[in-house]
Amino acid sequence: MDLGLRGRKAVITGGSKGLGGAIAEELAREGADVAICARNPDEVAEAGRELEGLGVEVFARTADVTDPEQVETFIAGSAEALGGIDILVNNAGRARPGTFETLTDQDWHEDLDVKLFSMIRCSREALPHLRARGGGRIININAIHAKAPDHRFFATSTNRAACLAFTKALSLEVAADNILVNAVNIGYVVTPQWKNIHQRRAPELPEEEFFEQMAAEEVPLGRFGHPDEVSGIVAFLASERASFITGTSIDVGGGMGRYL
Ligand SMILES: NC(=O)c1ccc[n+]([C@@H]2O[C@H](COP(=O)([O-])OP(=O)(O)OC[C@H]3O[C@@H](n4cnc5c(N)ncnc54)[C@H](OP(=O)(O)O)[C@@H]3O)[C@@H](O)[C@H]2O)c1
Repeated sequence: MDLGLRGRKAVITGGSKGLGGAIAEELAREGADVAICARNPDEVAEAGRELEGLGVEVFARTADVTDPEQVETFIAGSAEALGGIDILVNNAGRARPGTFETLTDQDWHEDLDVKLFSMIRCSREALPHLRARGGGRIININAIHAKAPDHRFFATSTNRAACLAFTKALSLEVAADNILVNAVNIGYVVTPQWKNIHQRRAPELPEEEFFEQMAAEEVPLGRFGHPDEVSGIVAFLASERASFITGTSIDVGGGMGRYL
């Protein structure tokens, strides 16, 4: 299936590793030019070099999506370097486990900032560029916890529900500009952030055992996902083949989430 992504210009926040790294790679393999950002300069530079090896234009810069000025500079720089923006993937984020009892106001503010406000800021900066190209795509990487709240991920559950509402409301506002906005709700996918959670929660357990135990309790397919099981659906949503899909979200969670 030709996804029609060759020559498209895609911006992926948090594109240095994990899901964002896989998404940037998949889009580049489909022939899209890509811009990525993250905070760790060495990892951004290394990821940028690997993407360049796929033969596409690459703009890789250090930027923190919780800092409005850095977002402005990164999105403007991406548009200039790639010659426009067709696709924005709002992916940067981090897990913040914690129950209502344990989370402080600061935890809540930080989580809201990196999850919801990063989407707001990046979308605001990217929209004029998408409009200038006659339309485009915004894909928000979200979480199954948005629809199936888990009190052990209390802030994530609450803030990810807001991200879903943001996705829907934005899709309504920009539909007339031929800009399609969707979300992908992730369940449990093995990435560096999960490796960190394993180290914090149960360093005594071998990594595979830790993931197997968590999956056995919560994932009907009985395992964690892999980043390339997420990047494929993102490439599809970014593609010409998804030209009539907007304002919705797709779960990639191995059946996780007990709702209709
Ligand atoms: N993996 C899962 O099971 C899962 C489940 C639900 C939702 N998600 C969501 O999926 C997204 C990707 O998660 P992941 O598992 O791939 O995480 P990851 O392995 O920790 O990768 C996160 C990426 O985002 C970057 N990043 C983090 N904070 C940033 C900031 N403030 N500004 C710019 N870049 C930032 C990281 O680089 P730096 O640290 O260098 O900035 C890295 O490139 C996140 O939004 C996460 O909440 C993941």
